[in-house]
Parts: sequence; C-alpha cells; structure tokens
Amino acid sequence: MGTLYPLFRYLFPSKKAGAVKAVSVTIPLGEVAIGESRFFKFKGKPAILIRLNQQKVVALSAVCTHLGCIVKYSESEKILKCPCHGAKFDITGKVLAGPAPKPLPTFASRIEGDKAIVGDA
Ligand code: FES
Repeated sequence: MGTLYPLFRYLFPSKKAGAVKAVSVTIPLGEVAIGESRFFKFKGKPAILIRLNQQKVVALSAVCTHLGCIVKYSESEKILKCPCHGAKFDITGKVLAGPAPKPLPTFASRIEGDKAIVGDA
C-alpha cells in the first residue's frame, strides 16, 4: 500500500499543494479622500493606496527600492518621495529621480461601492 501512495498523489494532487492563496485588502473609501493617500499592509509589507478620483485608486509598495525606507505621497506634486536619499517615483511606480534602482511594485486595485479593493480577490 505504501508504494501506491506516491502514485495516488500524482494522479490526484492535493488542491493545497502549490496553490497560491488569493490575497486582498479592503479599505473604506471614507478613509481616503480624493487626492490623498493611506498606508496599509499588503502581504505583510507597507503599501500605499492613492485615490486619484471618484472611480480610480492605485496601490503600490511603500518600500523604497533603494535601501528600504518608506516613501510618502506628495499630494501637491502627485509623486512619491523617499525621505532618506531623495528618490522620486510617479504613481505608476516608475523612478523619476534619485538612487532607486527599480520601480516601486504596484498591486491590482479597484473601487467597489464605497470600498477600495487591493489584491487578487
Ligand atoms: S532608501 Fe529611498 S532613496 Fe535611499
């Protein structure tokens, strides 16, 4: 019987094995006025949600790709700035200036009713 188990697992793999769990975060829009931002945790790391208008939000990692400081959103300039060494990013995560070697990762985001949903689900 013991020798049949690997064959059984091969023919009928567990749904848990290798399955990627969808992760999403819900943020009430009442907490983010249009043109403003809000920090949250996504997959255990600092992230930032920016509300662009009534129907659109963007979500990015808030961890600077240079040395890991937390970037902040400048509402007046509409860019993200790192306070440590001056890196600047646009709202798509693209590096605009400074020593950051890579863009900020972005996350799927959308508005549903009175909530912003970030993530896969
Ligand atoms: S850690 Fe952000 S520019 Fe250096």
